[in-house]
Amino acid sequence: MDAYAADHFVKDIWYFAGLLSDIKAGGVKAFNLAGEPVVLAREGDTVFALRDICPHRAAPLSAGCVKSGTVECPYHGWRFGLSDGECKSIPALPSDSDMDVGRIAVRTYPIRQTGPLIWIYLRSDPKDTAPPPIDPPQIDLPRDKPSLDDHVDLGCHIDHAVIGLMDPAHGPYVHRQWWWRSEKSIHDKAKDFAPRERGFAMVAHSPSSNSFAYKLLGGKPVTEITFRLPAIRTEEITIGKRKVLSFTALIPLDENKTQIRQLFFSDHPTFRALSPFLGGFARTFLRQDSDMVDLQQQGLKHDPRLMLIDDADTQAKWYYALKKAWAKSNATNDPFINPVEPRTLRWRS
Ligand code: FES
Ligand SMILES: [Fe+2]
Repeated sequence: MDAYAADHFVKDIWYFAGLLSDIKAGGVKAFNLAGEPVVLAREGDTVFALRDICPHRAAPLSAGCVKSGTVECPYHGWRFGLSDGECKSIPALPSDSDMDVGRIAVRTYPIRQTGPLIWIYLRSDPKDTAPPPIDPPQIDLPRDKPSLDDHVDLGCHIDHAVIGLMDPAHGPYVHRQWWWRSEKSIHDKAKDFAPRERGFAMVAHSPSSNSFAYKLLGGKPVTEITFRLPAIRTEEITIGKRKVLSFTALIPLDENKTQIRQLFFSDHPTFRALSPFLGGFARTFLRQDSDMVDLQQQGLKHDPRLMLIDDADTQAKWYYALKKAWAKSNATNDPFINPVEPRTLRWRS
């Protein structure tokens, strides 16, 4: 099976599907992944994922409800097992019917939970039922409950969203405001990068002196920024014994829509006290990125050739190289070889 199909999504990998607290206990939630409607169903503290289309007459199961290990379709009450997707009951059948309802099934998706984070596995071959050969990323959260939680739906393919996410050069233009960056604050930067599992990191450094938000936290923060396939960016800021973890996940809803979910987890009292205020900053940033994506779409409609320059766009080049290496290793069953080598990147921003 082609692991790198026309939709250009990274396959055979775990995507972030949200937080356990997004779904109320015994509840269901509609979700989209790579153009497929998915229903996330929660029983107790366990989450399941099924295709959100009833095989009877296509009603969305996310409009139904969870009932003892099954999800019940709102149209004619057919019930499907949460873990295996098999039909368990068809209420309209006469009591002496010998129809084998278990032969009807809805596709299920592998789900994994790491603390409050839910992960869903996207297969290149939807008919494959083997357990995923890899684990979702292990992310060390200072607390289970986020201090900040925001999202925005960008009107672009996930590749453009990822590249925008790790583009260091747009800050002074897109995010220009008196309290953050300006053209005058642009200066030379040199940052060390190193490969990490399925990605790379800007290795631990003290953030730029013009970062007003960091100053608010007091102490001398040290930051490490990590990017992992398919599109998980974490920024871990350590201030003494305390931590702020910025977690950004991109979710390909379909080929032209990408959700960006921004969460902050922290055990830092100042950060937590300031979080309503910082939430306003985060919101401003996300909206600015989203507006730029909309502008960029005007040009992308004409399918122009795009450029990636050294070193400011090297992280974007690594993203494409990682995607290619991942697809190749899945297609050939050879081990994945991370194409990123340790390197110092220099740019002005
Ligand atoms: S459409 Fe789901 S039970 Fe009929
Ligand atoms: Fe941005």
